[in-house]
Amino acid sequence: MKLLLTNDGSHTLKVEELNETYHSRHGAIQESRHVFIKNGFRFMLGKNPRKPVRIFELGLGTGLNALLTAIESRKLSVPVEYTCVEPYPVPEAIIGQLNFSEIINLPTVKDHFMQIHSVSWDQMNRIHPFFRFRKIETTIEKFNTSAGYFHLAYYDAFAPNKQPEVWQRDVFQKVYRFLSNESALVTYCAQGQVKRDLKAAGFIVQSLQGPPGKKEMTRGLKGQSS
Ligand SMILES: C[S@@+](CC[C@H](N)C(=O)[O-])C[C@H]1O[C@@H](n2cnc3c(N)ncnc32)[C@H](O)[C@@H]1O
Repeated sequence: MKLLLTNDGSHTLKVEELNETYHSRHGAIQESRHVFIKNGFRFMLGKNPRKPVRIFELGLGTGLNALLTAIESRKLSVPVEYTCVEPYPVPEAIIGQLNFSEIINLPTVKDHFMQIHSVSWDQMNRIHPFFRFRKIETTIEKFNTSAGYFHLAYYDAFAPNKQPEVWQRDVFQKVYRFLSNESALVTYCAQGQVKRDLKAAGFIVQSLQGPPGKKEMTRGLKGQSS
């Protein structure tokens, strides 16, 4: 793994053997805020405020989406229960070099970031009064939970051409099953086949404006109209 600077000044990681980055090179923080916070978390709050909002993330990786969600939940005083899966945790030495806390520059952000990475796996941890967090060292393929449990899914896998197995219709069907009625899945990916497979899995598919530097992103709705 190699540390890279993206165009908004925030870091991302590059996996050399896949020739793939964890975030958009146009801006990691910018992309995460646009795709997951604005069009995922804030969208769901606007649609149907629930307490707590139960969020699932595919791929904790650098922890950027978890960190931004923790910040947002505190800012809005909205309780969040966040569960993510990650089969290949980023080594501690690399986590320590990521500059997200310096760029975001809010009190307690650094602590939250370090907590997200240092808490025990497989159990629910309290990061701050509004943010409960659980990370599970497994794959999306192996993960399971009760039907209808989550209100929102952050689908943040490596691109379909790099990791096709996690963009299959049967995986989307599984995520659809563990989402509640009136829920959503958001992803940076806007590929046609992914949208068709999301639709086949049951989602109402929306193409939304992408983050800076990317034309589109995708949101799948379950049990609600646009
Ligand atoms: C594009 S990166 C995004 C990571 C993270 N959301 C972030 O902001 O850094 C994709 C992540 O999915 C993880 N991953 C790879 N295969 C997976 C699988 N089968 N199930 C769940 N996560 C997987 C990778 O290890 C990586 O951390």
